[in-house]
Order: sequence, then structure tokens, then C-alpha cells
Amino acid sequence: MGQSIDRGDALVLAHYYVPDAVQAAADFVGDSFALAQRALASDKPVIIFCGVSFMGESAKILCPQKRVYLPVPDAHCPMADMASEEEILHMRAAVDDLAVVVYVNSSARVKALADVVVTSANAVRVVSRLPQKNIYFIPDKNLGAHVAAQLPEKRFYFGSGCCPIHGVTSVREVRAALAYHPGALLLSHAECPEEVRAMSAFVGSTAGMIGYAQQSDAQEFLIATETGTLCELSRRCPGKKFYPTRTDFICADMKKVTLPALERVFAGGGTLVEVEEHIAAKARRALQRMLELAQ
Ligand code: 13P
Ligand code: SF4
Repeated sequence: MGQSIDRGDALVLAHYYVPDAVQAAADFVGDSFALAQRALASDKPVIIFCGVSFMGESAKILCPQKRVYLPVPDAHCPMADMASEEEILHMRAAVDDLAVVVYVNSSARVKALADVVVTSANAVRVVSRLPQKNIYFIPDKNLGAHVAAQLPEKRFYFGSGCCPIHGVTSVREVRAALAYHPGALLLSHAECPEEVRAMSAFVGSTAGMIGYAQQSDAQEFLIATETGTLCELSRRCPGKKFYPTRTDFICADMKKVTLPALERVFAGGGTLVEVEEHIAAKARRALQRMLELAQ
């Protein structure tokens, strides 16, 4: 066991996809962009990141002086392994006037080779502000295509990765859910496939979906993202009804981050996130550029 942690010394951050009990125990719940901003703004010496490993890694890169803990080190986003350093080097050699845009769901090594990192909440804005004409967007081909559709002045090259949970959302599944809830508005995460995004009233990040539902006059919504998001949707929109497009729209890795796992961190059983400084320094530049361009 490592050293125990005083509750007052720690900022507990949780993503919308972790179990409801963990969201309730956190100081702040958000999407990956808001969580990175909160980590950076905190004056606490410790961050406990209830999410998948790339999120804790990004917090550590942005806040190298803090101790960042993951309750479950093997809670890992499979998409984070779907972009390679070799592909980036190949594209840099092959295409002039190229910006390498790396989705935050990626390894620190890949971020270190990026011109800029993006999240689903800021990708369109950040890419629109890049001076380069050519954009290599990795790893998520679905988010990449969503961004490209809004920026016709740029030329895009895509990676081949996608989320194994959002990426399999089908028109058939959405139509079946709409048959049960014919009046519901479809809100989709940008990691969903093109044909599902095309049917949606809103496409964006988890926080964007929640914001849309809050300001909308509609009373019923079909939600194409991880079911953990329903907790915050119901909390922020009392009286409105939310239905998942499928009941097993679940990220198994996010669900590994249980309340007992969080409690073990306070008792000294967490995993300290470490990123080698020669990689962290380069990845930090790409993350900080995102924060600047997203403003
Ligand atoms: P957000 O950026 O919306 O938090 O999404 C992260 C993610 O992993 C979606 O699958
Ligand atoms: Fe990764 Fe998909 Fe899980 Fe998000 S929902 S953390 S992209 S596997």
C-alpha cells in the first residue's frame, strides 16, 4: 500500500460514464475537456481521476507538480491504442502543410507527436483555427468525419480507429428505440457513425449533449452515448425523460471504476500516474495549444 490521502488534499474528478455512485462522490463530474480544465485550475496537491487511463495521464501531463491517482489502472480506453507513432511520421513525410490533430483518447507518446490535441467538445473550433490546409485526424474516424463535414475549406486524412461502443451504434437500433419513443429527439455523441449522426438533432460531446437537452423545449430524448450520462441528464433536467438507444450502451472500462476502488485510493491503494518527462513535455505543448485555441 502507498501513502493514505487526506480528503481535503484531493480533487476527485469523475467522467459521466463511471458508475452513478462514483459520480455522486466526486467533487466535479464532466466530459474529458471540462475535466482537464478542472485539473489545471485546482490548487489541491492531489487529483484522483475516476475515468480511463488516458484521462489521468492527460491530467498528469498538464499538472506535473501534482500527484495524480487512478483508482483502477487497467481501466483503459481501447481507442487510445488505435493511433501509432509510425503512421504520424509517415504522414508528415508524405503530405505538405499538414497538421497532426490527435483526439485526447490516445497515448501520451502519440500526443507528443501532435500539433494539437482535441476533445469532442472543441475539435471543430480548434481545427478551424489551425493555419494548415491539410489535417491528419487520428485515431477516431467518426469524430474526424464529423469535424470535416463542418470545415469544407480543409482537406482531411483520417485514422482508422473508432470507439468499440459508440462506433457500433446502428440506424436499426435507433429506429427500434424511436418506435418505442416516437416523440423523442435523438442526441448523439460525435463518436457515433455517420448514418446515426445524420439522424440526430444534436451531435457533440457528452457535456454538449447535456447542455442541448437542458436548453431544449423537448421533453423526451433518445441518447446515443454511454448510459452513465443519464445520471447527469436526469439531475440537470428534472421532469424530462431520457432513453438510451440500447440498454447495453456501456463502456466496460469506465464501469471498472467503482466506489470501493475510489475508497481504496484514499487508503493508499491507488496507482500514481507517471509519464516520462521527455514525452510529457511534448504532449503538454499539444494539450496547451488545445486550451489556447479552444477559447
Ligand atoms: P467526452 O469528450 O464527451 O467526454 O467523451 C469521451 C469519450 O471517451 C467518449 O467515448
Ligand atoms: Fe473509449 Fe469508447 Fe469507452 Fe469512450 S466509451 S472511453 S471512446 S471505449
